[in-house]
Amino acid sequence: MSSPIAKRFLLSIPIVCLFCLLVPKLSQGSTELKGFKPFQKLQEQFQDPVKPSLINHPSNHQSQDVQNFHADALLKSGVINPVDTSHTTAPRALIGLTQCPRSPNQFTGHIRLPNLLYNISMSPRSARSKETRTFWNPTILALPYWAENQYLIVNMVTSHGEPYRRNVLCEANICNPQSQRANNSRERTCTDNDLEVLGPNGGLRCVTPPIEVDVPPTPAERCDGIEQLLADIPGFHDPRLFYSGRGEPILMVVSQSRYACIGLWAIDLRVPYPDIQEAFSSSPRRLGPGPLMSYPTLTELTRNPLRTRRSYEKNWVMFSPSPSTSYLQYELNSTTRTFAQLIGAGLTTTNETDPLEESCLSEPTPDEVDSGHFMAGASWHQATPALKLVLCTRTNSTCINNSEESVFFAAIHRKHVNGYGLPERYERYFVVWSATRPFNMLAVSQHPILLRNETNRGWTPEEIWDDVLEARSENRTYWGQFTYTTTIAYAWGREESDIREKNNGYLDDEVILSVGIDDQNGLYAKVKVSELLQCLKICPGRMPGW
Ligand SMILES: *[C@@H]1O[C@H](CO)[C@@H](O)[C@H](O)[C@H]1NC(C)=O
Ligand SMILES: *[C@@H]1O[C@H](CO)[C@@H](O)[C@H](O)[C@H]1NC(C)=O
Ligand SMILES: *[C@@H]1O[C@H](CO)[C@@H](O)[C@H](O)[C@H]1NC(C)=O
Ligand SMILES: *[C@@H]1O[C@H](CO)[C@@H](O)[C@H](O)[C@H]1NC(C)=O
Ligand SMILES: *[C@@H]1O[C@H](CO)[C@@H](O)[C@H](O)[C@H]1NC(C)=O
Ligand SMILES: *[C@@H]1O[C@H](CO)[C@@H](O)[C@H](O)[C@H]1NC(C)=O
Ligand SMILES: *[C@@H]1O[C@H](CO)[C@@H](O)[C@H](O)[C@H]1NC(C)=O
Ligand SMILES: *[C@@H]1O[C@H](CO)[C@@H](O)[C@H](O)[C@H]1NC(C)=O
Repeated sequence: MSSPIAKRFLLSIPIVCLFCLLVPKLSQGSTELKGFKPFQKLQEQFQDPVKPSLINHPSNHQSQDVQNFHADALLKSGVINPVDTSHTTAPRALIGLTQCPRSPNQFTGHIRLPNLLYNISMSPRSARSKETRTFWNPTILALPYWAENQYLIVNMVTSHGEPYRRNVLCEANICNPQSQRANNSRERTCTDNDLEVLGPNGGLRCVTPPIEVDVPPTPAERCDGIEQLLADIPGFHDPRLFYSGRGEPILMVVSQSRYACIGLWAIDLRVPYPDIQEAFSSSPRRLGPGPLMSYPTLTELTRNPLRTRRSYEKNWVMFSPSPSTSYLQYELNSTTRTFAQLIGAGLTTTNETDPLEESCLSEPTPDEVDSGHFMAGASWHQATPALKLVLCTRTNSTCINNSEESVFFAAIHRKHVNGYGLPERYERYFVVWSATRPFNMLAVSQHPILLRNETNRGWTPEEIWDDVLEARSENRTYWGQFTYTTTIAYAWGREESDIREKNNGYLDDEVILSVGIDDQNGLYAKVKVSELLQCLKICPGRMPGW
């Protein structure tokens, strides 16, 4: 891309869109343009029925044999070596989640969950003036049940040509219309004013006025070419909110890097937003000052060795197997998985990914691409924080809370781009990995997941709604063109006894999932974990021997 074109982009479109435009280019290189195909052509490709098999299928009989062999060998030797990495298998309970209660849409390959999407409003009732800004990229933190409010939202303000980025924060509550009160007894009932703002289904609404999140600007060490344009824009982007294993509320953002051009930074949310300090130090069943801060100042997260870092980094995911240990997963796709342990001050060990691990994600084969069922050039991107999960229900009194039954799960996107390298659509998958060293990948969704009212670019409305009888009969059209997920968090309202439990949950807990739509609005859904993680595929080599 020549720089006059780049400048024209800068002048003519909102700054926020620059990321959608430029980042794919950065990672794929300008040769992409040579492979340009008219958009219409790509549309046609999408319209063919899909045989969704983007997941790496282990060659079944072979892996079964290998498993049996391992099991035999173990029985014969009578010794089970728990650190022998090649023997990690999926917990039995995960096998139960390989069932597919619904079949995928025959054209698009999606599985559609029955859960509604609800509106998010950044306009509190107390606001003196009407909120006219638009927001995108909502990220949501569920506060402990003893806090005054339920959630905390950080949202990017859609830029209207301003040469900087703004992120605002508010505390928010969910309300339900009177008719659905019985199902959500702990949540509030909407007032008429709420329903006016949120629509007839209610939703999540700020109760405190949105305030700008003030974190210090960071200078870029070195940017080349087009990256410089991005680095010149002040302010952070892609905020993520989550709990560490110790129960710290961490705000992770993308901003200019001390080591290269763009990097990831973390700060304890209690620093830029001291108002929540009290909630963190007032756990009813545990006295004390609240969790110690690992990131009392804005701290850049790093890669070790330094030469492995790229100039423009994003989409890293932190996971905490215990209160005192956290890891950073830098990348996860069909060829590479890299994670390392955080050792303090944003520094990490070198790559600790099990070298014996086979990839769990895959790319379509050339035959699948030729048949028109798949598009080449899509890529996997980590999308949300990781939640720790005990693979049984909260109500199961015989279930043992031990780490062998614990996993992490997170949403990842499969990003499809059009002929211009612009994002065409994101498909939402869930990945599951072990919560025990070496944290092997265990499973991934067999099919991308859509929510009840969600549509996706690339197919006709008839095809998208093929699996929804009532939508077909009312000739329903598109509802949103481009949706993406930036949050999963255990929903507010569980009876935690300690802030450390915020990042842990059970199969029957609900997860709140934020959904950005068309880069200009925010919605959320609440889904039970066991629904979200339905229809999984066990990763190669992880099937337990029976
Ligand atoms: C409320 O709960 C009842 C019984 O559990 C269920 O049948 C109904 O579908 C629920 N309604 C909504 C709106 O979730
Ligand atoms: C979201 O709000 C809009 C505008 O108030 C409304 O038309 C729409 O029905 C709402 N959507 C949902 C899912 O409640
Ligand atoms: C996977 O990620 C690595 C590191 O970001 C990248 O070099 C590689 O090209 C990616 N593989 C695919 C198939 O996208
Ligand atoms: C990290 O280790 C895994 C397993 O050996 C390897 O596949 C991956 O490429 C490594 N990542 C980097 C950045 O070297
Ligand atoms: C409860 O948990 C135990 C141990 O994980 C499991 O074997 C059992 O099937 C579970 N019971 C139910 C009703 O889910
Ligand atoms: C779903 O979307 C359609 C329009 O596409 C709308 O008529 C319907 O009310 C929506 N349903 C819900 C429950 O939001
Ligand atoms: C849907 O479209 C069909 C064919 O165009 C038409 O006959 C039917 O009346 C439409 N239904 C509705 C509810 O608009
Ligand atoms: C499981 O037990 C560990 C240690 O006893 C505790 O830290 C963790 O919070 C528990 N998990 C859940 C979901 O309660």
